Amino acid sequence: MSAGRLIGVGVGPGDPGHLTINALRALQEADRVFVPATESSRGAHGRAEAVVALHVPEDRIERLFFSMRSGSARPAQWDDAGKRIAAVTGGGGTAAFATLGDPNVYSTFTYVAATVRNLAPNVEVSTIPGITAMQDLAARSGTVLAEGSESVTLVAYTVGASDLLRDVLLRDGTVVVYKGGPHLPELLDAIREAGRLGATIYGEDLGLDGEQIDAASTRGGNAPYMSTVIVPARRTGRRGAKL
Ligand SMILES: C[S@@+](CC[C@H](N)C(=O)[O-])C[C@H]1O[C@@H](n2cnc3c(N)ncnc32)[C@H](O)[C@@H]1O
Repeated sequence: MSAGRLIGVGVGPGDPGHLTINALRALQEADRVFVPATESSRGAHGRAEAVVALHVPEDRIERLFFSMRSGSARPAQWDDAGKRIAAVTGGGGTAAFATLGDPNVYSTFTYVAATVRNLAPNVEVSTIPGITAMQDLAARSGTVLAEGSESVTLVAYTVGASDLLRDVLLRDGTVVVYKGGPHLPELLDAIREAGRLGATIYGEDLGLDGEQIDAASTRGGNAPYMSTVIVPARRTGRRGAKL
């Protein structure tokens, strides 16, 4: 019997129209589609599930519960998820794990895949890329992420207003910050200190009901976890182009 397959499928940040044709095919062909859910979404569609449910019958979708907060509960949840997925792949089946954005960018998928590999070393693991939240915010706000020789640094605000964040803000490249909503005032203070608040863009619940896109300088107070900040590269003259 074949070892089965596990496919991490990126479904984009929320807008169902951002699902790629390859992702759609993988979801429709899988024997079982696993979707992450949180305690708060119990009984209601999680964001990835809402996209999946448009294309996959309910009886092929299975919810896996994960807490939003990092902590000791998480490894047990990855183990539980791994066992349920291995039950599909162990019989030679194909399991898809749908994840918001891209499965290789800050996704639960990578932890779950590691667990499945431990349980079933022969399982074939692959991923299908998805549109990331930073790409979606760039498109919706008309923000260029990089041109010429500019760099782009993606930072998770779990590092806080650290030296790492201050260091990249002092440079000239684009800085994208994920997971900063619950600490938005201190994140914006760090950007202001670097003299870059004026150009900074804020996006919340992109592609979902309640989407907000604003100049970050107009924001006050904390914001939801599902928010992304882009600090565009400092640009002058012919901008990033090497003349
Ligand atoms: C666990 S990471 C997931 C990243 C995702 N895999 C990606 O490729 O974009 C969660 C963070 O992604 C960003 N994010 C994901 N979806 C978003 C959305 N619809 N609107 C705004 N930010 C989003 C937020 O910064 C959030 O804190």
